[in-house]
Order: sequence, then C-alpha cells, then structure tokens
Amino acid sequence: MNILLTGGAGYIGSHTAIELIEAKHSVVIVDNFVNSNPLVLRRIENITGKKIPIYCINIADVAKLDKVFCKHNIDAVIHFAGFKSMSESLQIPLKYYRNNIDTTLALLEIIKKHDVTKFIFSSSAAVYGYINDIQYIESMPVGHCSNPYAWTKLFIEQILKDVATVNPDFSVILLRYFNPAGAHTSGKIGENPNGIPNNLFSYISQVAIGKLAELKIFGNNYPTKDGTGVRDYIHVVDLAKGHIAALEYTNKHKGVEAINIGTGIGFSVLDIVKTFEKINKIKIPYQIIGRRAGDIAECYADTSKAISMLNWKAEKTLEDICCDTWYWQIQNPNGYEK
Ligand code: UFG
Repeated sequence: MNILLTGGAGYIGSHTAIELIEAKHSVVIVDNFVNSNPLVLRRIENITGKKIPIYCINIADVAKLDKVFCKHNIDAVIHFAGFKSMSESLQIPLKYYRNNIDTTLALLEIIKKHDVTKFIFSSSAAVYGYINDIQYIESMPVGHCSNPYAWTKLFIEQILKDVATVNPDFSVILLRYFNPAGAHTSGKIGENPNGIPNNLFSYISQVAIGKLAELKIFGNNYPTKDGTGVRDYIHVVDLAKGHIAALEYTNKHKGVEAINIGTGIGFSVLDIVKTFEKINKIKIPYQIIGRRAGDIAECYADTSKAISMLNWKAEKTLEDICCDTWYWQIQNPNGYEK
C-alpha cells in the first residue's frame, strides 16, 4: 500500500516508516519539523536503502496537503502529527487544542475528498483518565483526563467515530499507546527531545551520558511494589510493528476499533533504573523528590484485544529497551545534530 505518515519524521513515525518499508509498503511523509529533525530522513534512507518523498508542510494548510494527495495515490493514512507534552499542555492548553484538533480536521477533509478510507490514529493510554482501575481494557469508559494533551486524543477519537458513522467505507483504528521507549537497534534513529527531556527514558539517557547530574524520581509513596510509579514501557520497534498489523486489519474491517498497544507488564521507576544500570553497566545517580502533578500510580495495558484482533504482541523486553536506548544515545550524544 501507499501510506501517508503525518509526523513521519518524529520518534514513532520514523520507526514506523522503516517497518512499513521493510514490509514492502511505500511511504510518503508530511512533517513540519516543529518537533523533529530533517536529518532523520537520511537515516531512514540509509537503513532502508529507499528514497522517501517528504513534504515540509503544516497539515492544517489544506491547499498544500491537497497537492500531496493529488501527487501520490494514497491508500491509507497514519496520523502521528501532534503536540505531545502532557506538562506543556497544562501550561498552554489552547496551543494543544488548536494544533492537534485543527490539523486532524484538515486531514480528514482532504482524505474525504480523495476517498481514502483507511486511517490509523496515534492515540494514548491517557484517554483512560485517572478514575479507571488498572489494567486498562478497551471496554472501559474513557474521559476524566488529567491534561489537555490527553483530551485532544480523546476528542480526536470522538471526531473519528462521528466521521466513520457517516462514511460506512471507513476503517479507523485508534491505537492507544502506552509508554513508548527504546530505539532502532541500528543506533541510527531514536528519541531526540527538544531541550530538557520530560519522559523517563530520555531523562535517564541524559543522566547516563553526563548531560544531567541525576535523575529526579517523582515520588516513592505510591501504592505500588516499591512506591515509585509503574508504567507499561513498549519498545518503539514493537509499537511500529503494531501499525503494520493495524494496517493489515483495515483490509477486512469497517468502522472504528480502539486497541491498546502495550506489553501488559508494569515496571516501576526503580525497576527501570536498576535494569538500565545492569544491562549497560553504568550508574544512574538519582534522588527521590515529591510527586509530579497529574501523575497516576500505575498504568498498564490489557493486551488481549491486540493479540486476538491484530495478531500482534510485543516481543522485545525491558532489557532490549534499556540496551537500545543507550546504544542510540552513545552513537548520537547530541541527537541528530552532528
Ligand atoms: N518519572 C520520574 N522522573 C522523570 C520522568 C518520569 O520519576 O524525570 C516517572 C513518572 O513519575 C512516571 C514514570 O516515570 O511514574 C513515567 O513517566 P513519563 O513522563 O516517562 O511518562 P508518563 O507515563 O507520564 O506519560 C507517557 C507519555 C504520554 C502518554 C502516557 C500514557 O509521555 O504521552 O504515557 O500513559 F500519554
């Protein structure tokens, strides 16, 4: 298939582009590089040996987006583009609502015009909010989100449901990601945060490489096995493969399905620190500080729907995540800027 990736130069988009090409699909990328680096394209081409059409546009610009669809015969869209910092979204909510919703509406108008009926959306476990008990299963009610970023994911899920209701040919898969981590085993692509990182693995990597003095662990008095927060860390290459499985599923599906993409296993912050230290033989100094606003104690997936419906499950381990994160970091101490 000919697949358009919005935000295809980003962390998850770039890994998915590689897996799609390896699965013999063709890829077209649209990205405005607001939170990604154009150099990633060279890395993807280097890994796959394929040249990828890339358009530097804002997808809210329907005229420019329309031209991309006129030029390429697109069969399916995977929509990664969007602002993704939960903490920033609490500070600047309008930026998140304006960007994430507007771009999606523009994209949906254009795909309707071009009769594209297969759509995969990067949603998040954050749509389960803070009142559901773990583990999260797709049949749970969604809502009670703790930040505007999460609400944008939930609103877009609703928009897609409404659009699918009036377009019976539509097949929409809402992939609810848990905590993406790790990097491509080549060490050529990985997460490249702008400025101070705010997710756990980016933070640990920068402590390991000496850019930051210590990890600050946000609370050790949660009702978890060691008091630190528990999450479901999914290797980004497994996550990328989940998109291929979802794409295949759209060939035999109409309507909308929400599917968790996680491992089903929860690890605490201290588990991550210990595993990273052991696998990479490096010390991670840390200090326990107070809880971070908006954090929940535990979050991990029920993965039975992904297994039964998509025939997909995560294969990589926490050790793989720690090893690949560190390999990417030491190969690229300054990210893509060399
Ligand atoms: N943590 C620390 N110190 C840090 C960073 C994180 O102790 O410097 C802890 C957090 O308190 C939490 C765990 O590590 O217990 C994971 O935190 P992250 O910031 O890495 O991830 P979150 O679970 O907060 O959020 C992630 C994504 C969101 C997504 C959500 C889905 O960043 O985009 O998972 O559950 F919506």
